[in-house]
Amino acid sequence: MKECKIIIMGFGSVGQGIAQSIALKKAMIKDKYGVELKVVAAVDSSSSAINQDGLEEMLLIHSKNSEGKLSSYPDYGSEVSGLDVLDAVEYDLLMEATPTNIETAEPALSLTHKAFKQGKDVVTSNKGHLAIKFKEITKAAEDNGVEFKYEASVGGAMPIINFSRETLSSCGIKSIIGILNGTTNYILSRMTSEGSTYDITLKESQELGIAETDPTQDVEGIDAACKTVILANSLLGIDATYDDVEVNGISNITSHAINLADKDGYLIKLIAEVSPNTLKVSPRLVKKGSTYDVSGTLNMATIKTDLAGDVTVMGLGAGSLETASAMLTDVISILKDKY
Ligand code: HSE
Repeated sequence: MKECKIIIMGFGSVGQGIAQSIALKKAMIKDKYGVELKVVAAVDSSSSAINQDGLEEMLLIHSKNSEGKLSSYPDYGSEVSGLDVLDAVEYDLLMEATPTNIETAEPALSLTHKAFKQGKDVVTSNKGHLAIKFKEITKAAEDNGVEFKYEASVGGAMPIINFSRETLSSCGIKSIIGILNGTTNYILSRMTSEGSTYDITLKESQELGIAETDPTQDVEGIDAACKTVILANSLLGIDATYDDVEVNGISNITSHAINLADKDGYLIKLIAEVSPNTLKVSPRLVKKGSTYDVSGTLNMATIKTDLAGDVTVMGLGAGSLETASAMLTDVISILKDKY
């Protein structure tokens, strides 16, 4: 039986979702694809659990939640963390889910480059390094002959990158417009339907584990802008970085504005636009009942193509297991290609 040895880097909401999704799906993957997934290391910001013979996924989650650190994993807990783990264990694939950092792109940037140099495939949900250095990273993957997949970085469980590249492969993509941030959509939906306040709904979204580690990234539109850059590069071939996006968030949207829009049959949504002439994230009025009328943590995107016309996708844009599902799909596609 072939084996795929995995390191899970980052053990917050998404990292724990990865562990849980592997626990739930490893028997199916073994059955269907003939490959055994083995988690050989899981790493948080200051500790890890490492065992070359494999770790128990649900025990990793339990250890992290009971003691706050992976070093409490029985027998195999350790203080080794970050880049050092990539040298401390033999592995095939890095699943990288450290917090997005839009200033320096670290630690994702160094971890990814190091894994590539070691000849390892990488699957990520991270947005910072892709938004700042998309070309550099994708070229490094090519130069090192490894696979690099990032479906989960845009739209969580909503299929968009692989869907556009594979299912719409006959089409040229002219533009994409949609809702790319689950937290702000949750906040705006709750403010509209329940009349809840901005502060309370923001707190709720943090408790649900859908907001970024620093929720300013969600409410100021930074997260959606990162996703705009990733789509621009990966699907429209636009050589853009974060600085090319015009960004406005939702922190100034009042309940009064939402009520006024509501009375006229409109909703306020944080809309991202990706086209050769426009890279923009801003609150906009959309008609109730239109394709933009999706609530809670849902994301949606209308992909304008040359042959197929408009194709609209929708799905849960944030959440632990939902985001992990997109990462596991990327892992399966690597298994199908390489194993
Ligand atoms: N904080 C992000 C969101 C998570 O709310 O959409 C998924 O990228």
